[in-house]
Formats: sequence, structure tokens, C-alpha cells
Amino acid sequence: MVTGDRVRLRAVEPPDAETLWRWHGDPEVMRWMDAPYPPSLAQTRKQLEERRTDSYGDLNLMIDTLDGRTIGIVALREAEPETGDAKLDIYLGEKDTWGQGYATDAMRVICRYGFDRMRLHRISLTTIAENTAARRVYEKVGFVDEGRMREAFRRDGKWHDKIIMGLLEGELR
Ligand SMILES: CC(C)(COP(=O)(O)OP(=O)(O)OC[C@H]1O[C@@H](n2cnc3c(N)ncnc32)[C@H](O)[C@@H]1OP(=O)(O)O)[C@@H](O)C(=O)NCCC(=O)NCCS
Repeated sequence: MVTGDRVRLRAVEPPDAETLWRWHGDPEVMRWMDAPYPPSLAQTRKQLEERRTDSYGDLNLMIDTLDGRTIGIVALREAEPETGDAKLDIYLGEKDTWGQGYATDAMRVICRYGFDRMRLHRISLTTIAENTAARRVYEKVGFVDEGRMREAFRRDGKWHDKIIMGLLEGELR
């Protein structure tokens, strides 16, 4: 478990299946995220039961508030010791918690973990240009724009640009 000022990150457990399934079925939560076909609850339960142990290259952590409410998930993927590079994904599925600083704190906790414990050199992510709340969170903790993939995401019958952002060791705020 890793703790910040407002959140605690912990391993994903089989009983989280119902929560994740509910979040994945919420169009507002999934608005700017790559969404596969909606998974069934049975599939989600099976996936969690059969999940491999978290590893250097595939780390998934639930975001809990300090009083124990599960509100989101954050992942560091594709980390490689040879390159010191990893990719980050985050979302909060409980919409009533948006705008209270939880994602900002969770970003700081996971990035600190990546740089200090995993000895990463850089962390990158992509977001949709119109996702202003997410971009604001990433900028607040030190991520900078590194590129734009034009019309790389389709939602609601329209194409949207994806922004590539990156954070180097030593830049975390
Ligand atoms: C994006 C998301 C992670 C933000 O989480 P959060 O806990 O609400 O973020 P925080 O409260 O830490 O910070 C939000 C910041 O964005 C700002 N913000 C919120 N909505 C905004 C908007 N529409 N336009 C501009 N800024 C906005 C807030 O004011 C705040 O900045 P501030 O501290 O300078 O005032 C969360 O809303 C979420 O999970 N959304 C759905 C999934 C998603 O889009 N995930 C990211 C995929 S890349």
C-alpha cells in the first residue's frame, strides 16, 4: 500500500469486479477513454480472478480515499528497466468525487513510486485534447505536452486529437 495526503493506493482484489464493471458501464466516466465493448459482470469477475500478479511491467492499483472508499484506478504499464520508461493511465469512476483533488494526489503518489521505487526515468501518457480536467491534473503535477496525434480517437461521431504528455524524473511537482 502507498499513501498520499488524500488517497491510498492498493492492489486490485476480486471483490473490486462489481465496482469496475459499474464504472465501465458509465458513459460519463468512459467519455474520453478507449472503451472496449461493454464487458459483462461475469467476464469482469473472471478477469480479476485470473489476473496475473502485478509486476514491474504491469502495475494496477485501486485508489481509495483515506477513509476507505474506493473511487478509481491507476496503472503503470509497459515499464522496462532498460529504457526507464512507463505509461500511465488513471480514472476516477465515482463521479461525485471529481474536482476534490483526489486524482492530483493519486498522480503524485504513483509517479513518486515509479521514480523512487521502480527507478523510472520518464512516465508518459495520452489524453484527449478536449479532456481539460485531465490535462489540468497532469500539468499540475509537472507533465508537459510532447506531441499531438491528430484525429486518433473517435467518440460521438467525431474525431478528436490525442495529446502525448511526459514527465521526467526530477520534474514531479
Ligand atoms: C480527469 C479526472 C481524472 C480528474 O480527477 P479529479 O480528482 O476530479 O481531479 P482534481 O480534482 O485533482 O483536479 C482537477 C483540476 O481540473 C480542473 N478542472 C475540472 N474540470 C475542468 C474543466 N472542465 N475545464 C478546465 N479545468 C477543469 C479543476 O479545477 C482542477 O484544477 P485546479 O486544482 O487548478 O482547480 C477525473 O475527472 C476522471 O477520472 N474523469 C473520467 C475519466 C478520465 O477522463 N480519465 C482520464 C483519461 S486521460
